Amino acid sequence: MNIAIIGTGYVGLVTGACLAESGNSVICIDNDEQKIAGLRAGTVPFHEPLLDAVVLQAGRQGNLQFTTRLDEGTRLADIVFLALGTPTGSDGNADIGPLLQCAHELAEILDHDCLVVVKSTVPPGTCEDIQALFDTMLGRRAAGCAVKVASNPEFLAEGSAVTDFRLPARIVVGTSDDADAETLKQLYAPFDPDGTRLIEMNLRSAEFAKYACNAMLAARISLINELANIAGPLGADIGPVCQVLKSDPRIGPRYLEPGAGYGGSCLPKDLRALIRMAGDKGETAPMLHSIEEVNRRQVGLVFNAIEKYFWGRFQGRCVAVWGLAFKAGTDDIRESPSLALIRALLDAGAQVRAYDPIAEPAVESSFTHPGLVLADSAEQACLDADVLVVMTEWEEFMTPDFRWLASTLRSPAIFDARNLYQDKDLKSLGLRHYQPGRTFPAHSMLKTVWPQAPLLRDDIPQARQQHA
Ligand code: UDX
Repeated sequence: MNIAIIGTGYVGLVTGACLAESGNSVICIDNDEQKIAGLRAGTVPFHEPLLDAVVLQAGRQGNLQFTTRLDEGTRLADIVFLALGTPTGSDGNADIGPLLQCAHELAEILDHDCLVVVKSTVPPGTCEDIQALFDTMLGRRAAGCAVKVASNPEFLAEGSAVTDFRLPARIVVGTSDDADAETLKQLYAPFDPDGTRLIEMNLRSAEFAKYACNAMLAARISLINELANIAGPLGADIGPVCQVLKSDPRIGPRYLEPGAGYGGSCLPKDLRALIRMAGDKGETAPMLHSIEEVNRRQVGLVFNAIEKYFWGRFQGRCVAVWGLAFKAGTDDIRESPSLALIRALLDAGAQVRAYDPIAEPAVESSFTHPGLVLADSAEQACLDADVLVVMTEWEEFMTPDFRWLASTLRSPAIFDARNLYQDKDLKSLGLRHYQPGRTFPAHSMLKTVWPQAPLLRDDIPQARQQHA
């Protein structure tokens, strides 16, 4: 099929490259000229495992092209995917302005029958609005063609997006008639060899499925974090408790790692949008609010543990931070718990020496502070540092030289926010070892030490100022 993809972010580019790889003729469209020039030269503008190779190969085979021209890119398209971002708007809702603008521009130029498929995460009802927009504008233009709108949300996780696309757990297709569903079934046939993965539904259900999925994932993470916070003070060890949970087939093994809370470009944003949508419909959604609250304060617990270790005084202290990306496998720092912690440490007067294998350029271009040094290696970050905090679960942080750390850190302690070293006996090497659900003090305990201990991640700097 001839496919046009509008938007070459994570979703658009992965979708375009993988559909080209499976034999379609794909044109990716973006109004960022520099990005398109880079892609034409084979440069993927972000880190995503396997994507460079797929883009290069599909380009060589002539299946994947790039353009900034909407008319040129969509001229022959049987299917046009809309894969523009929908960040949080000023009212907390998803900002679908750029998406609607793009649909408007399309409605001005399309002159042949085609299916417009919304990949972006959008509030239920958006596809219907876009359909109405096409119907009105094409009718007004007497364009003589029919454009149908479908919903096909993505479930790609950064760091494994190509594999997720090639081997999807499910493909969600929302349409208003069977013929459109059939078109998408044909397109996705190579990715659904046993014919069991494609789930058909109406437009609104497909749009909602994406929010529901991210809410469920966020709920699991916040619940395991809360259980970990309770386990510690009760003398229980969250490590084996997690094993018990994961081995229960009713619960399942994934999204049960306690840590510093979830970040990234999707979970926090989609939770906010869902809460807003619920509010608009008069639903109080108490669970969704709690998921967010637990997540916001989780990174505060890491901060509080370090603060307690330094007896509340950060002046003259230097903290090494391993990991800036919101998770391993990506250079994405959007809503990264690591950056929230670093900001809080800097505001409190500490120096920070941070290291990340690939996310440092992203930090350099968006956040500078005289107290923050970006190191060239994990070891270099620890030179002249008092303690180490591990915030991202990169492979290279899994087996550090603990003896070297014990002799290098000025006040040897590891704040292991990702529970990477849970089975290690670091005490015998002279390293104090703090982990969520084991030795990070629960918030209630900290209240007795610091009555104004921040509840919310965003409140950390303000709370500290009030305290001072
Ligand atoms: C997520 C969804 O998984 C994906 O389906 C959707 O399309 C986009 O949003 P992504 O943002 O790439 O993908 O990250 P994900 O791997 O889901 O992790 C989200 C956050 O949760 C990360 O900060 C991660 O570190 C954290 N997390 C994840 C935990 O703290 N514990 C876990 O057990 C799992």
